[in-house]
Amino acid sequence: MSSKTFYITTPIYYPSDDLHIGHAYCSVAADTMAKYKRMRGYDVFFLTGTDEHGQKIEEVARERGLEPQVFVDQMLVKIKDLWKLMHVDYDGFIRTTDPNHVKAVQHIFVKLNEKGDIYEGVYEGWYCTPCESFWTESQLLDGLCPDCQRPVEKTREKSYFFRLSKYENRLKQLFHDHSDFVEPASRAHEMINNFLEAGLEDLAVSRSNFSWGVPLPFADDSIAYVWVDALCNYITALGYPDDTELFDRYWPADVHLVGKEIMRFHSLIWPALLMALDLPLPKKIFGHGWLLFEGGKMSKSKGNVVDPAILVDRYGLDALRYFLLREFPFGSDGNYSTEALIKRSNSDLANDFGNLLSRVVAMISQSFPEGFPSEKDFDQVDIDLTNLADETAAKVEQHFDKMEFSLVLASIWHLIGQSNKYIDLTTPWILAKEEESRSRLAAVLYTLADVLRRIAVWISPFMVDTPAKVRQQLGITDAGEEINTELSSWESAAESGLYRDDFIVQKGKPIFPRIDIRAELSTIEKLDEI
Ligand code: MSP
Repeated sequence: MSSKTFYITTPIYYPSDDLHIGHAYCSVAADTMAKYKRMRGYDVFFLTGTDEHGQKIEEVARERGLEPQVFVDQMLVKIKDLWKLMHVDYDGFIRTTDPNHVKAVQHIFVKLNEKGDIYEGVYEGWYCTPCESFWTESQLLDGLCPDCQRPVEKTREKSYFFRLSKYENRLKQLFHDHSDFVEPASRAHEMINNFLEAGLEDLAVSRSNFSWGVPLPFADDSIAYVWVDALCNYITALGYPDDTELFDRYWPADVHLVGKEIMRFHSLIWPALLMALDLPLPKKIFGHGWLLFEGGKMSKSKGNVVDPAILVDRYGLDALRYFLLREFPFGSDGNYSTEALIKRSNSDLANDFGNLLSRVVAMISQSFPEGFPSEKDFDQVDIDLTNLADETAAKVEQHFDKMEFSLVLASIWHLIGQSNKYIDLTTPWILAKEEESRSRLAAVLYTLADVLRRIAVWISPFMVDTPAKVRQQLGITDAGEEINTELSSWESAAESGLYRDDFIVQKGKPIFPRIDIRAELSTIEKLDEI
């Protein structure tokens, strides 16, 4: 087992409705990062799960005439199926209704209480049920929830409060000393300016006007506020406090990936709770942007086109995962459209990448069906392309380490673009006609095959089936299990010249089909009316 560990989490999703492409975005990013780190030899723990308590879940379950537990059990099946379909290959899945989690949250409340950080009071103010957030009058925007712009309810109820204000100075110090605690930096500034500088008020951490939640051990008329219940998942999923094997191995988390609207909970409330519990803080909270739909926030009611399962079915998982992480710089908002997805798939995948592979494999199969000869006449132009691949190896890692997924892909696709240009420059189809150019032709096609071999590795964290398809066409998979494993490793992609002369290429189907954009858009439109 590797001594280097990497613990990455997604937010735990509310199972109140079917998940849409915006939710899948975060999970695909976390999964890609987890796959990358595994390839780099880390002992990875990738956690996701469901946030099953709270007023919203209770209300939705009631509307459907179901007990909340029965309702969340049904929703859970769909969520797990979606992650399976999308190859979101988590190591741990937590449900906040898991008995161990419930017990651990109760333990945490007892500890906070013993520490003197909990006191009884009355909460009077506004509550946004969809966001499960408390708001003061002055925080509302035109009388609406500042996060989701939906109506809020006036509430007055008995509550226990957590002394969040006590931790204000330590939080300020944290942001000051660790400028990379919250990323991107713009989100750290938001937290400092909008919340820390304005002063933190104590937080209501229990509810008493409904019952779907974790009962407080010291007050049987109260349940834990769903956000405190939910945040604790990151440690309870590791067995805290009773079974500390995983906890000792992985805590503190390397990164909590979260959407920008829940940054406040993760970068202020969560660290304060951990400080109160005398536990180490996570190393980083990364706030990604939102996928907007027709300029607004996405929701399942916006139609079928935001259903990830439909998109996987129509365009393939690898195209969807590629699109999500290539199209939108990870920290920024972006406008989602199926048209953009089809365009990317056609241009980057079918054209640039797919055609490159098909052309190279076809030319090798025509001129060197039995493998490459040892005589190869290399030229500067070949060395330049190989050097670019070496530079790409370094760039891919640099960008990955900063979670700049779209830049990782941009650097790989730059190499793909240069490889296509290299074909135009070296004109292998002309070389193929002259017997005396055979060793020159071998050098050109070998250089291309070797670059494609390396690309197949770099895309592996993003794409599920494509790397193996590329290796199959390059004849690597048929050369034996051991060679295939060796040439699938991350390290192998850093080196040039590992493609072997005795690999026999296999012509295959295009790895990405071209989509007829006009026909597809009209089909999609009809689908959406169903
Ligand atoms: N249950 C809380 C999280 C608790 S974590 C301790 C929650 N759940 S959620 O289901 O509403 O949202 C989960 C995540 O999905 C959030 O990070 C949110 O930002 C993200 N997204 C929801 N819609 C999204 C988009 N349209 N685009 C990108 N991410 C989006 O909040």
